[in-house]
Amino acid sequence: MARIIGTGSYLPNNVVTNKDLETLVDTSDEWIKTRTGISSRRYAGKDENTGEMGLSAAKKAMAMAKVTKEEISYILVATTTPESLVPSTSAYIQGKLGAKNAACLDLNAACSGFIYGLQVAQGLLSLPGIEKILLIGSEVLTKITDFTDRSTCVLFGDGAGAVILEKGQGIHSVITGADGTQGACLHTGTFKVENPMTKEVMGPQKIYMDGQEVYKFAVRILPEALRQVVAKGGGDLSTLTHVIPHQANLRIIQGAAKKLDMPLEKFFVNIEQVGNTSAASIAIALDEANRQGRLQKGDTLAMVGFGGGLTYGACYMTWTL
Ligand code: ACO
Repeated sequence: MARIIGTGSYLPNNVVTNKDLETLVDTSDEWIKTRTGISSRRYAGKDENTGEMGLSAAKKAMAMAKVTKEEISYILVATTTPESLVPSTSAYIQGKLGAKNAACLDLNAACSGFIYGLQVAQGLLSLPGIEKILLIGSEVLTKITDFTDRSTCVLFGDGAGAVILEKGQGIHSVITGADGTQGACLHTGTFKVENPMTKEVMGPQKIYMDGQEVYKFAVRILPEALRQVVAKGGGDLSTLTHVIPHQANLRIIQGAAKKLDMPLEKFFVNIEQVGNTSAASIAIALDEANRQGRLQKGDTLAMVGFGGGLTYGACYMTWTL
């Protein structure tokens, strides 16, 4: 049993428009808007790394939840773009927050990471002694964006979102899954180490994506995952108040709404100004929807994501804030 008691998010100040990208690659504002729904996205500045942005989002969620740093038992960070593998981003944030009672764990399930994190948090909260969890999704995707590839570089942005969870009634069900046989559709290559024999060195890792294959996966899995998670939680799709989907492409969201015969207005969309922020995407959208007053106590809500792996996940809950 788990419920969300606070949300927060952070977006860097630097706004990058489609027009700006026209100066980098052979693209147009018109193409990007009609194919993806994106008009602009934010890029992290020099001092805005994955940990710092996650920290900013976390502080806002903690303030809303009225939770002190000492009360946090666990910090979970979903990210594909940590500053370093060791220490983890969660440990970095723990240190900066001074949350000395918190254990720290990073998760990588690409764009589904925040939903995977909710499931891990739900499990942890069933254990004695774990009372409050800080779950963050934070990404500086510009670190791994290939700015020579017009089919991917126009999609991504940077940002962070966070929630505080505690034991209680709220989340009814979470589902997660993956199809590892499709890993090659969306990858950053394998690690290369400095090899004294071949002189091969670890190079920068950039995102490669087979957009059409990922698109096919997304339009199939989004409605399927939503149906499954709501049924598992004993709910009814027709009475669902809101859907907070991963913000990858407006056309994918429109396709899911159509397949489920649900009004598009039930789907929260901020992709126009934020782009795809991977593991941060659903967490940012949830916080924006919450702070805009769209989520009322007692509303039912489903979050759904998909991404590299290929992975997917969904969560069905009643809003209790
Ligand atoms: N500007 C102009 N033209 C472009 C651009 C661009 N930025 N990108 C591609 N094109 C061209 C292509 O070269 C192609 O030209 P051609 O017909 O001469 O060969 C044409 O546009 C059509 O290309 P498609 O790939 O068929 O375009 P599509 O409509 O499929 O849109 C997109 C591409 C937006 C990537 C789409 O496939 C998509 O959204 N896929 C899913 C991506 C996704 O959801 N990723 C989520 C996971 S991300 C993560 O986990 C980090």
